[in-house]
Amino acid sequence: MPQHFHLNDYTIYTGDLRDTFPDWLRERGYVQVILVTDKNTHRHCLPVFLEKAGLPGTIPVIEIPAGEQHKNLDTCGLIWQGMLDIRLDRKALVVNLGGGVIGDMGGFCAATWKRGVDYVQAPTTLLAMTDAAIGGKLAIDFQGIKNTIGVFRNPAAVFVDPVFLQTLEKRELRSGLAEVLKHALIGDPELWRLCTAGFQVHGGSIHGLGSPWYLEASIAVKTRIVQEDPYEKGLRALLNYGHTVGHALESYFLESAEPLTHGEAVAIGMICETWLDAPEKAIGIAEMIFRVFSHRRIPESAFPELWNLMLQDKKNTAGQIRMAVPGEASFTMSILEPTPEKIKDSFLFYNSLTPNP
Ligand code: GLY
Repeated sequence: MPQHFHLNDYTIYTGDLRDTFPDWLRERGYVQVILVTDKNTHRHCLPVFLEKAGLPGTIPVIEIPAGEQHKNLDTCGLIWQGMLDIRLDRKALVVNLGGGVIGDMGGFCAATWKRGVDYVQAPTTLLAMTDAAIGGKLAIDFQGIKNTIGVFRNPAAVFVDPVFLQTLEKRELRSGLAEVLKHALIGDPELWRLCTAGFQVHGGSIHGLGSPWYLEASIAVKTRIVQEDPYEKGLRALLNYGHTVGHALESYFLESAEPLTHGEAVAIGMICETWLDAPEKAIGIAEMIFRVFSHRRIPESAFPELWNLMLQDKKNTAGQIRMAVPGEASFTMSILEPTPEKIKDSFLFYNSLTPNP
């Protein structure tokens, strides 16, 4: 049974869009509706979205190039230009159909267009459904540093229809699972237990992912934290668990022949950050993570650059790296301020792990 989650002044609807979106839109009475999407999503998701949402094929669509490398001011320029060409009214609605990049950038452009027009998040990836589309954080990358320019602004609503998960490559689905596992570790031991039982890897193909039974439990954890701390004055920092190390690894490997997905990087980040706090616990978490993710050695030559990348993190103060990891009880956290040596040891720990064949 689909659930609806109320978050401050908006609702996150899960389940078939047909049951919620058309009525919601009618009630809101927007004078104009436009869509922001990327090339891949346009092809794979837009026809399904329009049909389910009851929107005509003539609706204006702003299409941008796909990929994190385009989450920058140049692409924002394309979106704002599209808004200008359409003569986008302040009483319009912008629907962001896509993954985390579309949600972040379409939301950022909507939030700044004429000092803000309403927007809706219609996430099509697991990562966006379980994390990025919820909570009103909107940002773009600047000079290669992730999420440096941005604002907090809540969407008018979020519509999570798992139908779009069928369009994802296994690697992308797996990437989103890192955020599901993060939410389980932060606030839902039963979800963690179910994941441990449910995710099995056999010969490279993942079983246990077909029906997204983990989606709503994961959204519930995210929603509860954002509800309590919408502007990240405290507990919301815990949602960045795994991301201090993860973002640095993601940026570092972006330049390599084989970049890591966001989730792959966060999965390594959760192992390393947990090790800094509780080495025994890190072993258990790593066991679970290797059911889903493969091992990627971190070259020792990369350690200094990774430290420098971590220094860019927004949670730091006065040049000291700060990271939040889950505490003993659900929805509690410990703040760590590791030295470069400790971080290096956590990478060496990760490198020493040998996943089960
Ligand atoms: N993705 C982290 C947050 O929403 O706070």
